[in-house]
Amino acid sequence: MIGDSTIHVLIVDDEEHICNIISEALKADNFQLSVFNCPKMALEHIKNNPIDLVITDLVMGEHSGEQILETTIERHPDAMIILMTAHPTVQAAISILKKGAYDFMVKPFKLDLLKSTVKRAIEHQKILRDNVRLRGQVDFLKIANADAAGIDIDHFLNMVVESCKKELGAVAAGIFEIAPKTREVLRFASACDREELEEVVLDESVLNKFARTKSSKPVIEAKRIMHDGESKIELAILQPVFIRRTLHGVINLRIISQFGRITPGQLDVLTILSNAAASAMSNHKLYQDVQRSYLEAIRGLANAIEARDRYTAGHTDRVTRLAEMVAHALDWDDHQVMCLQMGCTLHDIGKIGVPDSILNKQSALTDEERKKMISHPEVGLRIIRGIDLFKPAIPYIRSHHERWDGKGYPKKLKGVEIPIEGRLLSVVDTFDAILSDRPYRKGASLAVAVGELVKYRGIQFDPNIVDVFLGVIRRGEVNFEEMYGRSEDISCLDEIVVTEKASV
Ligand SMILES: [Fe+2]
Repeated sequence: MIGDSTIHVLIVDDEEHICNIISEALKADNFQLSVFNCPKMALEHIKNNPIDLVITDLVMGEHSGEQILETTIERHPDAMIILMTAHPTVQAAISILKKGAYDFMVKPFKLDLLKSTVKRAIEHQKILRDNVRLRGQVDFLKIANADAAGIDIDHFLNMVVESCKKELGAVAAGIFEIAPKTREVLRFASACDREELEEVVLDESVLNKFARTKSSKPVIEAKRIMHDGESKIELAILQPVFIRRTLHGVINLRIISQFGRITPGQLDVLTILSNAAASAMSNHKLYQDVQRSYLEAIRGLANAIEARDRYTAGHTDRVTRLAEMVAHALDWDDHQVMCLQMGCTLHDIGKIGVPDSILNKQSALTDEERKKMISHPEVGLRIIRGIDLFKPAIPYIRSHHERWDGKGYPKKLKGVEIPIEGRLLSVVDTFDAILSDRPYRKGASLAVAVGELVKYRGIQFDPNIVDVFLGVIRRGEVNFEEMYGRSEDISCLDEIVVTEKASV
């Protein structure tokens, strides 16, 4: 029944010899014939058995072929029905075809005509059923395109389970991705008609079924259950997701139906979707590896720039950590925080174009030197331009020297014209610079750094970001011992906050 290609044919005629002739004519390997000369028994058979094709007489004593037609369509919507009659009328033919019959044959007919009509009906049915498969492939292409853009894997897996549920007529579908070595669940998605089924389709113990197999074939189990007061068959289908013969996940489906039939086309759809999930998981991992490699390379570059002046060592890391704290206080999501990490790491990358003599100069810069120094945001943009991966870093690089009052650089943007990323980075970047040791001076105290932030709140800095950052410090989230090698007394903040409030 599961994944079979047997064609279940029902022949109904109250004249037994006609039943016998038709049966004889349709003997074929993949036809399973059920023959009835009693229409009442045929109706019972239709209610309790799978049906693909019906050949029935139109007039059979007190029963009519129309009853057979209607019951078949109700129970087996994609079954093909051929009616036969010895007394044809145009009205009867139109009426029957309108009710969903596939064809109409006038007795007596040649067996060749019957065979060719049956052949056409089966082909027509195959086209209808293959349509399901094609729709699956359309979804697959959509999914493949979405993944090619290197975006949200969670959204992608949701699309896979929704598609599995729709194409296989499941009541619940779940997928989970695991770490192949530890079998720890990395992420999951589900689509269920009823909430309690979510637990069923996301049950991790099903992984045990694939402990010793490298086969990508689904594991299918059927059991009879009572569903809405009727006896039904529940199919549990587990489709493993393999990447290079290693298990990376499982798709788990629950299908409840009368006969527990799954067509080969539906199993093909499941294979297509599990392959799509496998390639998405694989691509996502590659994308993450590439991103990590790029970031490591760029971090190395950023460290090399810092190394030109040993007194600024660790600046990038500290600024990134402080910025993350502010981002969390602002309720930024994981994606925004990831972009922030990238932006903070890369923000001064343009300093690679500033000569050591300017970078490390302890006295005031000449106009020419200053021009070179303030070009570093734009040089930074030129360095990363063309690398799609680093696009999220652009607002950080471009705007971290803009000022709230419009007197910053390079664009002299003012207030909220400055991207929030630049406004945030500007506060923590300056804070760290004040606290850090310099060749010509020791790092200032927390009280001094906070005093500067408050003094230039609404002048150089976004007042809201300053307030949020002061809240972060006040809550003890910044570990000064670890970051700056000295302890700081945050009680100084109380006084300053009072001053800050008074000055607003
Ligand atoms: Fe900078």
